[in-house]
Amino acid sequence: MRLKGKAAIITGAAQGFGAGIAQVFAREGARVMVVDLNEEGAVKMAESLPHQALAHKANVAKLAEVKALVKRANEEFGRVDIIVNNAGTSHPGGALHRVKEADFDRVFAVNVKSLYNFAVAGVPVMEERGGCFINIGSSAAIRPRPGIAWYNGTKGAVHIISKSMAVELAPYKIRVNVVAPVAGDNPLLTSVMGQDSPENREQYRASIPLGRFSTPRDIANAALFLASDEASLITGAVLEVDGGRCI
Ligand SMILES: NC(=O)c1ccc[n+]([C@@H]2O[C@H](COP(=O)([O-])OP(=O)(O)OC[C@H]3O[C@@H](n4cnc5c(N)ncnc54)[C@H](O)[C@@H]3O)[C@@H](O)[C@H]2O)c1
Repeated sequence: MRLKGKAAIITGAAQGFGAGIAQVFAREGARVMVVDLNEEGAVKMAESLPHQALAHKANVAKLAEVKALVKRANEEFGRVDIIVNNAGTSHPGGALHRVKEADFDRVFAVNVKSLYNFAVAGVPVMEERGGCFINIGSSAAIRPRPGIAWYNGTKGAVHIISKSMAVELAPYKIRVNVVAPVAGDNPLLTSVMGQDSPENREQYRASIPLGRFSTPRDIANAALFLASDEASLITGAVLEVDGGRCI
């Protein structure tokens, strides 16, 4: 078991990539806190996991809520070794100058401010023992597509903030890495495509050299490697899990 004895907080883990990460981390021995806005989904996921997994309803964009959940994880697990900033959202796909201000603000709050919130709350509990952050970026930050400009920008911020965190937190033995998925065949894809049609889906799929969408298991396997001791010298990396999309 590659994460035996470790405690992990995984955001947006009620479904999608986060759920896949929670399942794989728990399988590998970690105690997991499943964080999500969707309380019912978080409870269901936590109940399905071994090693006393916890469910916690929170909005990752709110500092007070993030401080409370990190405190709870630290008290109940006695430690926090891994924080996976996975919760994310997009604005509806479309012309960049027609995106609503409220959507712009929401996307930056959920995708970017959450990293600030978890740094403020998480670094103090990790700095004695060390630990790691895994932030979910995107191939959209490296090879942006039209129609989701502001979302692409949030993921660019995730990549550079992660590198900044990596270099600054290295003296505390806190590693910070990014997993950058290519599109998965899931609800987020539907919202960013603008128009969901078999033709649009095929166009997305065909732009991935290995010829398929990403799955929660693909992303979880990459996150597992980065969280494990096998990656103990890896920090500031952006691991593209993209079937070659960013080449
Ligand atoms: N799906 C893709 O094609 C794709 C591609 C590249 C990167 N990503 C990134 O991967 C991550 C996960 O995406 P997914 O496809 O699994 O998404 P998803 O929509 O299937 O799941 C996201 C989960 O996050 C939760 N969530 C959303 N906002 C939250 C908030 N403010 N606080 C707490 N929880 C919140 C949702 O309730 C949901 O359970 C995101 O950061 C996304 O940007 C996704």
